[in-house]
Amino acid sequence: MGGEPAKWVSMVTARTPTNIAVIKYWGKRDETLILPINDSISVTLDPNHLCTTTTVSVSPSFDQDRMWLNGKEISLQGGRFQSCLREIRARAQDVEDEKKGIKIKKEDWQNLHLHIASYNNFPTAAGLASSAAGLACLVFSLAKLMNLKEDNSQLSAIARQGSGSACRSLYGGFVKWIMGKEDNGSDSLAVQLADEKHWDELVIIIAVVSARQKETSSTSGMRDTVETSALIQHRAKEVVPKRIIQMEDAIQKRDFPSFARLACTDSNQFHAVCLDTYPPIFYMNDTSHRQDNQLCREMESCRRNTSDNVQVAYTFDAGPNAVMIARNRKTAALLLQRLLYNFPPQSDTDLDSYIIGDKSILQDAGINDMKDVEGLAPPPEIKDNILIQKSKGDVSYFICTRPGGGPVVLADETQALLNPLTGLPK
Ligand code: DP6
Repeated sequence: MGGEPAKWVSMVTARTPTNIAVIKYWGKRDETLILPINDSISVTLDPNHLCTTTTVSVSPSFDQDRMWLNGKEISLQGGRFQSCLREIRARAQDVEDEKKGIKIKKEDWQNLHLHIASYNNFPTAAGLASSAAGLACLVFSLAKLMNLKEDNSQLSAIARQGSGSACRSLYGGFVKWIMGKEDNGSDSLAVQLADEKHWDELVIIIAVVSARQKETSSTSGMRDTVETSALIQHRAKEVVPKRIIQMEDAIQKRDFPSFARLACTDSNQFHAVCLDTYPPIFYMNDTSHRQDNQLCREMESCRRNTSDNVQVAYTFDAGPNAVMIARNRKTAALLLQRLLYNFPPQSDTDLDSYIIGDKSILQDAGINDMKDVEGLAPPPEIKDNILIQKSKGDVSYFICTRPGGGPVVLADETQALLNPLTGLPK
């Protein structure tokens, strides 16, 4: 740093996706290091629709580490943030930028302070794994700022210590979090099974359910499950290891019926171990159960027609939102028609804010405005079941998306969330 009054600010901006597990992580064997009791597999969601953007910066003029999330300053004192910062600083390398007159020796990083600003392009309150994208983005962008030599898999083992599911957001496409055996967690990390292009026909529709009750956090929920559920041990030891092998195979072969059966049964079992927890945990609400019933009915009728004709998979995380995975765009368009028939928007909601993300699926479904929604014919199985009620307002909005890519650095400085001269939020 040369002794002269250094005024420089060095910064990096990155964008990281969120992910949805199709074989769930639920239960830890080490709470501090965040080591799971089973492997898990996820699909990375397209960051154009759901992602976190983070700018990290360093300057000799900063007097403490500070962080802003969606424009509001938040504390970095939590143990999980501190673990990530410590692990990254320990691996920091020399950084030199002659043009800007920046020279940082690796040992300087211990005394230099950081400013971090992070922004989710989706509502944090929607319960869409914002912590996974957020922690992964923090670790990825800091690793670039501090010139770490570690690859994304090694970085995932750091992100894991921020939030377990975050480790799977270090890759695009289809990702496995290997639980590992070591007590120090060095082999508990994420690997990519296939990139997003491998199976790019899939369409993902997320129903963000309104009327959210207070939910049990994943962290305390899984702690209670491990302490009180008799089923969880059977799940971790006997069920998941077999499903992981089958799911890897289904992904590799793009075998949708197997993929769907495994994703749905694993989601069901996750909610079963939540119910087996004492006191029980209920993550799905009435709307989720109605969607669940509807989806199960559809899957059952597909299954009865021909055993390999399943078109939609579903999975529910630790909240009431339904995540549906359609086999291709044609199926997705049909599914969207049915969803809009059963869960129409409230009269004051416009279609543009009710279906967000990849809106082209709407066109495929022949829906251009609210008139088209009102004119939707009931799905065939509903004709002889007059008990089915339309549920206006139960869903806040739908997000249409697809498998997407992993973290990227955004080189364009205009995308930075911090001012390059002051290092404060723009
Ligand atoms: C149901 O990763 O949020 O989404 O490791 O305690 O931060 P912590 O938990 P978190 O748990 C996610 C649980 C899940 C399933 C999954 O993503 O695999």
